[in-house]
Amino acid sequence: MKERKILITGASKGLGLAIANKLAPSYHLILHATREDSFSTIIPDSTLLCADFSEPSQLEQFCKTLKKEHGDSLYAAINNAGLTFDKPINYQPENEIDAMLNVNLRAPIFICKTAMKIFQQNKTGVIINMSSIVGEGGNAFQSVYAATKAGLVALSKSLAQEAAALYDTHNIRVLSISPGFIESNMTDSLGEDVKEKYLNAIPSKRFGKPDDVANLVEFLLSENASYINGTNIQINGGLK
Ligand SMILES: NC(=O)c1ccc[n+]([C@@H]2O[C@H](COP(=O)([O-])OP(=O)(O)OC[C@H]3O[C@@H](n4cnc5c(N)ncnc54)[C@H](OP(=O)(O)O)[C@@H]3O)[C@@H](O)[C@H]2O)c1
Repeated sequence: MKERKILITGASKGLGLAIANKLAPSYHLILHATREDSFSTIIPDSTLLCADFSEPSQLEQFCKTLKKEHGDSLYAAINNAGLTFDKPINYQPENEIDAMLNVNLRAPIFICKTAMKIFQQNKTGVIINMSSIVGEGGNAFQSVYAATKAGLVALSKSLAQEAAALYDTHNIRVLSISPGFIESNMTDSLGEDVKEKYLNAIPSKRFGKPDDVANLVEFLLSENASYINGTNIQINGGLK
């Protein structure tokens, strides 16, 4: 019986699925996607908890269930679900702006709020928020997406400081990760010319793999990373 539970949002594919496969031998996983049929394979001993985060009522129910059914043994929350609609802001419809704000930023904020209440009681816990290289450097045609990702960095740093200031424990850590160009569904949709441009600019001369990020998450959750807190970790092959 695996005693520690870990929530991974956006675990049906891409980075989230790689993280789930990496952590599955060691933790009981609570795996999230918009719908149960988003998962093409089921990881043994895992629990599915689905919600469309663009719908505030579904997020609210998700957080209630997380606390009620998993609060006693939740060890970590990995806010990985995200989406992007790339275009100049002048042409960005309101529904796309709202979806990026809701899924990429509002949902992690409320999941952090739920997790921090749980961790305060349990006196231990780790939050990892999946930001992006564009949250630091910006990117044309991704202004709203980049703004949500910058928000996650500030959210993580602030919560790490808040936990230290308020809670009767120093075992709560809050971090963000900024991946560069990682091969996934999200990046498959980019044009060949854009991919070529990035490849030329990456010192490691390859795109990242979801497993590169999964290895980092596994380390950050371990005791060996117990002094890494309140910071943003870049994983980008040297791309600036
Ligand atoms: N790939 C990269 O190069 C890269 C770089 C930097 C940062 N990131 C970040 O890393 C994270 C994962 O990226 P990825 O490339 O692995 O993405 P992906 O393959 O497109 O997977 C996105 C995940 O988010 C979920 N999701 C999408 N819309 C949602 C909604 N409305 N409500 C709830 N969940 C929703 C999806 O669930 P369904 O399957 O049900 O739709 C899926 O599980 C994202 O936060 C992304 O911004 C990625």
